[in-house]
Amino acid sequence: MCGIIGYVGNQDIVPILIEGLKKLEYRGYDSAGIAILNGDDIQIRRVEGKIKGLEDSLRDEKLTGTYGIGHTRWATHGRPSEENAHPHRDCTQSIVVVHNGIIENYLEIKKTLKDEEHKFVTETDTEVIAHLIEKYYNNSLESAVQKAVKELVGNFAISAVSKNEKDTIVTAKVGPPTVIGLGDGENFISSDLNPLLFHTQEIIFLEDGEMAVVKPDSVRFSDFEGNSIEKTAEHISWSPLMVEKQGYKHFMLKEIFEQPQVIRDTISGRISLDTGKVFLEEIGIPESTLKKINRIVIIACGTSYNAGLVGKCMIETLAGVPTDVVYASEYRYEDFILDKHTLAIPVSQSGETADTLAAFKSSIEKSNPSLAICNVQNSSISRVADGVLLTHAGPEIGVAATKTFLAQMAALALLAIHFANIRGKLSPKDNILLMKELQLIPHKIEEILMRAKEIEEIAQLFVSHSHFLYLGRWASFPIALEGALKLKEISYIHAEGYPGGEMKHGPIALIDEKMPTMVIIPKDRVYDKMLSNISEIKTRVGYVLAVAFEDDQEILDKVDKVIPIPVTHPLFSPFLTTVPLQLFAYYIASIRGADVDQPRNLAKSVTVE
Ligand code: BG6
Repeated sequence: MCGIIGYVGNQDIVPILIEGLKKLEYRGYDSAGIAILNGDDIQIRRVEGKIKGLEDSLRDEKLTGTYGIGHTRWATHGRPSEENAHPHRDCTQSIVVVHNGIIENYLEIKKTLKDEEHKFVTETDTEVIAHLIEKYYNNSLESAVQKAVKELVGNFAISAVSKNEKDTIVTAKVGPPTVIGLGDGENFISSDLNPLLFHTQEIIFLEDGEMAVVKPDSVRFSDFEGNSIEKTAEHISWSPLMVEKQGYKHFMLKEIFEQPQVIRDTISGRISLDTGKVFLEEIGIPESTLKKINRIVIIACGTSYNAGLVGKCMIETLAGVPTDVVYASEYRYEDFILDKHTLAIPVSQSGETADTLAAFKSSIEKSNPSLAICNVQNSSISRVADGVLLTHAGPEIGVAATKTFLAQMAALALLAIHFANIRGKLSPKDNILLMKELQLIPHKIEEILMRAKEIEEIAQLFVSHSHFLYLGRWASFPIALEGALKLKEISYIHAEGYPGGEMKHGPIALIDEKMPTMVIIPKDRVYDKMLSNISEIKTRVGYVLAVAFEDDQEILDKVDKVIPIPVTHPLFSPFLTTVPLQLFAYYIASIRGADVDQPRNLAKSVTVE
């Protein structure tokens, strides 16, 4: 979704806003703008397209000031253009607003304001906020914002400035995230942690229905009624280096190569090889409650949904707990049945995806326990859940998720083993065997990454294709979905992931010399079945690439090309089969010159429905 940045202090504000917006650009990148205040003038600069365009325009025509706000947009209402870019102004040109979210009743408000002679210049929902604040403005931006936000229906994170109130930014939120960064004689506002890491690690998260008046030497919190609220800062462990490319061509490639360490960080301190025990006290849900769990519902979107499917495989196989995986955007409108022994598990790297948050909130109304698997500390979803199992992947900047996918699978593997243990489903021998294998996964991924060049050469052969089919069975079916999703997301090649057995009931009609198929075929309980699907394709002159175990001789003459991976436990094969598919998609997109880190029409976390 959109990204908002704000600063009040004594430094030159332009570099702070521009660098901040660059760190938020993965949230939306179809237009951008800033408003700078110095003395009694508001200077606004907006562009259609990327922050780079804004930076160039500021190089040609400088702006200076010490406080202001900035915005990078993912359009919902009003096409991407300079005039629809934020910030937006009121009639008097003295109040300026940036907004992340959707105002559902903006047309009604607009009609009323038009009847009151307000002049609108854009198609956006956001502009009504500027005029609403203008309507209530009486020498206090804070109370005008308080009155305005009470009329808004929908979700919004807004920041506003007025040229009549020096060194003051008023920010308020219902839904999308807002973080306050505390400095020394300066303070920051941002939609997430990444831009703030360069300035401070002392952070305060705004809750829904809260607002803040931010000045260089103070931040005052209150609710929308004006009742003041005490809030304490948190120290964030992420470092600024984590949000830099560190020599890689793209963040996505860097994040793919970070996966061995990400898995080590996500499992470390949580397993004991000696006892085979998993330590998950941090989730804060007593074992007695977990023992009574008779069903699990995993709620997610996008890549997190695919991780949930792998989790289902692990939990049902090891612990025997029936597990459903649901698309959050569908689930929130289904008449779902949950009881107090159903564990709801929202999986979300950002912890901010609106569909997942809303579906999760409505699911826990049935007073069942809940456990969030998130990558961002203190995100909205993690703050609502009873317990949180954090993945330690560090900030993920590439819009297409990679390292957080593997970290989610690692967290779900720990959960599956934990559930199996507390149900006495695993013999100590099997337990330790699984632990040992899980610990070897990072090293085996390093072996695959050492063969990245070979995968690049294979990818080169497919850069001009326009269609691709991905097939997998059992634990590999979610990886077929994920492989296809990665190719779609970043190369814009139409790709479909399908269960291998389902192919003959439809997609087989697509098979011809122009439709290559990627099969994920580690040696497991469905290996032979997958082989017969391959021969169904070969019979129809289809081209088949296979991701298979390196010791698999049988596959060599059954397919056109093999991408070998180290051997592992069948349940852990998703960790190893995913990496070549990430690299395959990455190299095709990169060779095609696509904007790999910021693919068209996508955003890192979608905070509106
Ligand atoms: C999409 C991202 O917007 O949201 C995907 O582009 C991601 O990469 C999906 O998988 C879900 O996001 P999250 O943060 O809930 O895991």
